[in-house]
Amino acid sequence: MEFYLAPMEGITGYVYRNQLQKDFEGVTKYMTPFLAPVPKKVLKTKERRDIDVDNNAGIPLVPQVLTKSVEGMLQVMHLLADMGYQEVNLNLGCPASTVVTKGKGSGFLKNPGDLDRFFEGVFDGMPEGMALSVKTRLGMWEPSEFKNILAIYNRYPIMELTVHPRVREEFYGNEVHLDQFAYALSESRCPVVYNGDITSVEDYERLMERFPQIEKVMIGRGLIQNPALVREIRGGMPLSEEELHHFLKELYESYSRELGNHKDAMFRLKEVWGYVGKNYPDRSREIRNLIKAKNEADYEQMVRAFFS
Ligand SMILES: Cc1cc2nc3c(=O)[nH]c(=O)nc-3n(C[C@H](O)[C@H](O)[C@H](O)COP(=O)(O)O)c2cc1C
Repeated sequence: MEFYLAPMEGITGYVYRNQLQKDFEGVTKYMTPFLAPVPKKVLKTKERRDIDVDNNAGIPLVPQVLTKSVEGMLQVMHLLADMGYQEVNLNLGCPASTVVTKGKGSGFLKNPGDLDRFFEGVFDGMPEGMALSVKTRLGMWEPSEFKNILAIYNRYPIMELTVHPRVREEFYGNEVHLDQFAYALSESRCPVVYNGDITSVEDYERLMERFPQIEKVMIGRGLIQNPALVREIRGGMPLSEEELHHFLKELYESYSRELGNHKDAMFRLKEVWGYVGKNYPDRSREIRNLIKAKNEADYEQMVRAFFS
């Protein structure tokens, strides 16, 4: 079984990926949070840093791109090919209003005709040796839109299709539509990766019971909540409190080094605590306070107290 770390903008950048890779085994592929190409410069400095091969040594990494422009996609694909990347992922899932109103991310799924022309242009001009994978939702409004969308994907030599079986309007709410995922598994021309709501070994086992043919699973929030989740799924030890403390401490130090100060590192860690805190339903007030910490000294003291 292959396990991918889902891209999560604001969390799974190279600092997080390196710490996870160092401390916990099991993830077989990492996807960057989306890169959004802009004219001329193509990628912003922060995005270039995230994909810099020196910042990702030993990490099997796939850069993800968010665009609706054939030209933008090709520019970034050529740049990534020159850096040695062999796979690029297209984001067709982002539900954020700022993205969707521009017709990107899951907003691209509104216009299957445009999507078709986009793929035609991209597959025509793609660098040799480069593969394109796709991460998709089922549609904008209704799961039934997926049939048409998958028919378009099936016209092109897409390398792999990750399906988060929700529509845009659902954001991260409602149950995932497993009937539509079943359709993807049976009808997709390319291999399918499952993504959505795996937060425990039991969630994973339930999914595998229903779909024993799944070979690849992508996990986002569940892995941020429990960085040992893949190890546990593979039959290894559950996450210990010492391990989590160590992981969060090292992550804080790495962010402090990379960002040049503790304050920005603290903000990054607060995002992570928003997920990790779910492991401690009885200590929600303590976690709320920690997330509200006014300064680094308070934050550090609260973390020490939490684990003492
Ligand atoms: C804070 C946050 C940031 C995300 N950023 C991205 C992103 O940059 N690209 C993307 O394709 N999906 C992004 N996603 C979606 C996740 O990759 C994933 O598809 C979603 O969380 C469902 O999987 P999960 O239930 O395992 O978390 C983001 C989700 C969250 C909660």
